[in-house]
This record gives sequence, C-alpha cells and structure tokens, in this order.
Amino acid sequence: MDQPRIDLRGARVMVTGASGGLGAAICSELARRGAELVLTARRRELLVDLAARTGGEVVVADLADRLDVDRLTEEALGCDVLVLNAGIGNDGPLEEATADGADLVLDVNLRAPIQMSLAFVQHALAERRRAALVTVGSLSGIVATPNTRMYNATKFGLRGFTLSLHQDLLGTSVHASLVAPGFIRDAGMFAENDIELPPGVRTKSPQDVADAVVRAVESGDAEVFAAPPELRAVAKFSGLLPGLSASIQRRLGVSERTSSR
Ligand SMILES: NC(=O)c1ccc[n+]([C@@H]2O[C@H](COP(=O)([O-])OP(=O)(O)OC[C@H]3O[C@@H](n4cnc5c(N)ncnc54)[C@H](OP(=O)(O)O)[C@@H]3O)[C@@H](O)[C@H]2O)c1
Repeated sequence: MDQPRIDLRGARVMVTGASGGLGAAICSELARRGAELVLTARRRELLVDLAARTGGEVVVADLADRLDVDRLTEEALGCDVLVLNAGIGNDGPLEEATADGADLVLDVNLRAPIQMSLAFVQHALAERRRAALVTVGSLSGIVATPNTRMYNATKFGLRGFTLSLHQDLLGTSVHASLVAPGFIRDAGMFAENDIELPPGVRTKSPQDVADAVVRAVESGDAEVFAAPPELRAVAKFSGLLPGLSASIQRRLGVSERTSSR
C-alpha cells in the first residue's frame, strides 16, 4: 500500500503539551487547517484559553502518572493523528542528579510517548484506517551537549523509536514521523530560558515547528527538521563524530547555557 495521505480537514488530532510554547502554535495551525483538536497537558486554564481560540476538547493529564497515561491512551485511539509534543528538559548540574529526577524525564519524554504510540498505531492498523503519528524530538536527539544528559537520553531514544516504527509501518495505512526542532525563538522552553547562542547560530519560529508538523502529517516522511540547514549539518556531523564535536564545543565554551533543547 502507498503511504497514505492524511487530510487534516475534519481529522481528529490529539496534541500533547498543548499548553506549551510550541504546542499552542501547532494547535493554532492545525485548527486553521480544519482539524478537530483534543488538547492535553496538566495546566487546565491554559488549555481552556487555547481551546477558546482553536476549538476542541480539553483533557487534563499528567504524563508522569501512569493512570493518566492509560486514560489518555484510550482517548487517543479515537484520533486520526497523534502529535506527541510534550517534553521537559530540566537537567541540572551532575552533582544534583537523582534517580527520581531521571525517572520523571524518562516517563514524560519517552515512556508515555512510547505507550501512546504503540497503542495508537496498533489500533489504527487493526481497523485498517489511515492515521499519522508525529513525535516531537530535537536536534538534541542527534548531538549531545554538556548538562543535558537526560534530555539527550530521551530525545536520542525518541528518535530511535520513531525512526524504527516508521520502517515497521512502511506499506501500511499508518505512518510515523519525527519532527526535530533546533533553537526556537519567541516561545517555548528555549526562548523562556534566556539562553545565549554562539554568534551566527540562527533560530526558527514556533510557526516553523507547526509547519513541520503539518508537513510530517501530510508527507509521512521519517524525519522533518525545523532548523536552519547549517545547524542540521552541524548536528549530523556531531552525531557521526561525537568526540570531535565535544572538543569543538569545549573550545567554543558551549555549556548548558547554549545547549539546544
Ligand atoms: N523550544 C525549543 O526551542 C525546542 C527545541 C527542540 C525541541 N523542543 C521540543 O518541543 C516540545 C515542546 O517544547 P516547548 O518548547 O513548547 O516547551 P514548553 O513550552 O516548556 O512546553 C512543554 C509542554 O509539555 C507539557 N508537559 C510537561 N510536563 C508534563 C507532564 N508531566 N504531563 C503532561 N504534560 C507535560 C507542558 O504542559 P503542562 O506544564 O501544562 O503540563 C507543556 O505543554 C518538547 O518536546 C521539546 O523537547 C523544543
């Protein structure tokens, strides 16, 4: 079977992390294209405000709570498109790292997306229905930086999971894609952290990420970037030669203040 084309007009789309900087932009673009949204995150008031602009249903859920994830997964089965965008990047200094802190990042960034993805694609395949899964990774899924160990661990993991699933689904009615943003200005975790970038490093906008999500849904491509070409090239080079990348980063003075989310 050819890779299916998903028409967003009238499609039911769940977006996790809808209350966040990139989630809001993704939801607005999907609504503009006629999707019926299911908006989910923990902060109800932000979801209700967003739903007043985009329409759609609000489902409050904590991805670190397994019962909530079970409930949200059930809800996702009725959707045509699932956008797994929620994520946290709260790595601190190595001396303060704990197993509980690692569990939290694993749960939100990796375990919940994996549980939801598996159930979503299995259900759509069983019903022989067109469906699209989009996970939101990061260039931090390709290149490691200092003081982002759990963020890197989960974004590398999410990339591996999605790219493998993409291959499992080739020739079926369902496709899976990864959207990989670089540094995003104006809204979201990078913009809110007042991080100083090395000179010449360009950013993209939340709208660019929303456009990348739409491209992923419509094309079914394995990986869609929301990053300038030169940053993508640096990330790919760093992924191939991590030792050299680490010494270049050290010489440039890259620390947690400049690491990509
Ligand atoms: N911004 C960037 O420059 C950038 C770059 C590369 C990749 N990304 C990726 O893009 C995605 C969105 O990031 P963002 O910049 O929009 O970040 P953000 O503004 O911090 O939003 C994060 C979202 O995740 C949700 N979330 C966090 N913990 C949760 C939990 N326990 N349960 C349910 N939802 C939870 C938050 O909702 P509540 O707090 O309401 O629960 C919020 O909606 C993330 O996966 C991030 O890794 C961002």
